[in-house]
Amino acid sequence: MSELTLPDRVQVGIVGAGPAGLLLGLLLAEAGISCVMLERQSRAHVEGRIRAGVLEPGSVDLLARAGVAARLARESLRHAGAEIAFGERRLRLDFEQLTGQHVTVYGQTELTRDLIAAHLARESALFFEAPVEALHDLDAAHPQIECLWQGEQRRVVCDFIAGCDGYHGVARASIPAQARREFSTRYPAGWLGLLCDTPPVANELIYARHARGFALCSMRSPTRSRYYIEVAEDEAVSDWPESRFWEELARRLPAEVANALVTGPALEMSIAPLRSVVSEPLRHGRLLLAGDAAHIVPPTGAKGLNLALRDVARLASALQAFLRADHEAPLRDYSAAALAEVWQAVRFSWWFTHLTHRLAGDEFAARLQEAEFAQLCASRAAQQALAEQYVGLR
Ligand code: APR
Ligand code: PHB
Repeated sequence: MSELTLPDRVQVGIVGAGPAGLLLGLLLAEAGISCVMLERQSRAHVEGRIRAGVLEPGSVDLLARAGVAARLARESLRHAGAEIAFGERRLRLDFEQLTGQHVTVYGQTELTRDLIAAHLARESALFFEAPVEALHDLDAAHPQIECLWQGEQRRVVCDFIAGCDGYHGVARASIPAQARREFSTRYPAGWLGLLCDTPPVANELIYARHARGFALCSMRSPTRSRYYIEVAEDEAVSDWPESRFWEELARRLPAEVANALVTGPALEMSIAPLRSVVSEPLRHGRLLLAGDAAHIVPPTGAKGLNLALRDVARLASALQAFLRADHEAPLRDYSAAALAEVWQAVRFSWWFTHLTHRLAGDEFAARLQEAEFAQLCASRAAQQALAEQYVGLR
């Protein structure tokens, strides 16, 4: 592979090469728009991160249109439903019957690898270990990205900058405080996840609500499982030896499921905090935010990645309309249109978290959960509403 030279001038400078930045780079390159992607971490680090793994049909269609769905089509799992368990009571949501759709289980880690491979194949301007330190002249016609590349301070002049640098990035923080509002809520809990090479306990995901806290049985493949349990906010992975994790998981699942659990050594264990954050607007001058750089949702319902991909599809077509056809309306509407979808996902993941988590252990909240679950069991309309949101129709 030829040695990459950092360009001085591009149409779109992309900060961050997570799924959002990588997909945006592919869609723009496909449209003949020059871009650069600058990623702080190494390729190995980006490819090794363990994240969620459920794709909405719209996400799969988008990836297919971007030409990065070949391995996904071969290796992903088609899930026509999922289960919610409250103690021993179990409700299967039949997505196909309720919505005519299914979801696709394929790890974000695998998707990230596929996106990077597609860029390497086309020799894209994708730079790892190139941290962006500051953004300049966001209000001017040619904003600039200041980054570090091979030990040197460099600047890239752009027409637009896409902030795809996640929650801890520099893009959102570059917007002046008076031009931005942040809406957020915290949940007094975290998710402790464990990945292991044992067959999943069930063919479909099980979201379990229990007085001791939430648990989720998920998977990556027929031989790789991903399990989560809700833990207190101040707990650390070191508080949870693997044997304690398995015991606690089993206690929170219906007995039949717990008895079928196949345990095995952990490939990875980590804790993710639960929070909802939305930064508005998504545009400041010539800076546009997408994905986790603009919003975070709790993992219940797996909306984070799907939302990031939606932002990127909208942003790519808005940039293309402007840069290729001088048509400004989609870019002008980007923030409001994307935020309308973002708030739907924020609302759904907030609701689904409150339905299934113990959180502060409030007895009133527990009674409401019971009432809500009873209504779900009794009402096809309520199941349909949940299923529509889960598969990403509304
Ligand atoms: N310079 C360059 N890169 C940066 C900088 C910086 N200053 N700050 C952060 N980054 C990089 C991070 O290292 C990371 O690789 O930006 C990338 C952001 O990627 P993600 O956090 O994965 O965010 P995004 O691409 O929006 O993906 C959407 O959906 O399931 C959720 O949170 C999950 O990652 C997932 C997200
Ligand atoms: C996962 O498999 O990591 C996963 C699945 C479903 C969720 C969240 C995470 O709602």
